[in-house]
Amino acid sequence: MLVLTCWVLVLLCGEGGFALSMRRFEVPLHVPRGESTTLRCEFDLQGERLYSVKWYKGGREFFRHVPNEQPKKQVYEVTGVNVDMEESTGQVVKLREVELATSGRYKCEVLAEAPAFNTLVEHAILTVVEIPQEKPVVQGAWERYHPGDIVRINCTSAPSKPAATLTWYINDRVAPEQYLMRYLPYMDHEGLETTTLGLHFHATHDHFPRNVMSLRCTASIGFFYNKTEETALETHRPALSLQSREHFYDSLGARRTVSSLGLTLLLLCVLHALR
Ligand SMILES: *[C@@H]1O[C@H](CO)[C@@H](O)[C@H](O)[C@H]1NC(C)=O
Ligand SMILES: *[C@@H]1O[C@H](CO)[C@@H](O)[C@H](O)[C@H]1NC(C)=O
Repeated sequence: MLVLTCWVLVLLCGEGGFALSMRRFEVPLHVPRGESTTLRCEFDLQGERLYSVKWYKGGREFFRHVPNEQPKKQVYEVTGVNVDMEESTGQVVKLREVELATSGRYKCEVLAEAPAFNTLVEHAILTVVEIPQEKPVVQGAWERYHPGDIVRINCTSAPSKPAATLTWYINDRVAPEQYLMRYLPYMDHEGLETTTLGLHFHATHDHFPRNVMSLRCTASIGFFYNKTEETALETHRPALSLQSREHFYDSLGARRTVSSLGLTLLLLCVLHALR
């Protein structure tokens, strides 16, 4: 999108025959925290003489290149902007180790010398991102579900900036909105955000095509991050279910009372059916 805008601009200016024109303006949309990045403001003087190139972040100047002055390059202190003086020129500014505070609106301003004093201004937003270090985590899931059970589980993303978007899939289809519990994101002291998306529904036979229900949670941020945590949950035919259920609950003491009740009910049903 950004690149496209620049090219359109080049064509317009080129044909219009304006004196000063932008050849390439580039401010990356997203930069992972800790990395270096390059901002480009490549202009075409078309015979005019350059007076200055100034860079601003959120209205505050942080870099200036003035060929007729000594020193030619100046850096000004702006929070979150670490200019690599050596690597920066009139057309390129290099930022080292970007921080979350490096995010903001960057503007390049080119000024030609007298008598025309033509100016060229271009700006764009840069966002520093922190990619989650871990996959999303699924909590509260039982080992097995059966038609009639209530599914009540959470998917939580690892801390990131911006917050990850979570999606629940049931058997590879996006879960309907009425099954979802949306919780407010939690922000830590560094400004990183953790989000939780709950999945809450009454499982029916329709949720177990071929006796299997699969639940999947995906965390994504824009186009550059997409991780999936998959939990496949199985169910079996009733005769087997009794056994597997008993076995499962036995290994988890806390749920034993529920299991005995469930087991009793199931047995009652079987007995009833036998009569
Ligand atoms: C899901 O997360 C919310 C918010 O943190 C919490 O209140 C709830 O108890 C969690 N539910 C499960 C099943 O873990
Ligand atoms: C993320 O990946 C999953 C599985 O590969 C895919 O279904 C989903 O559409 C992707 N999401 C985004 C936002 O790219």
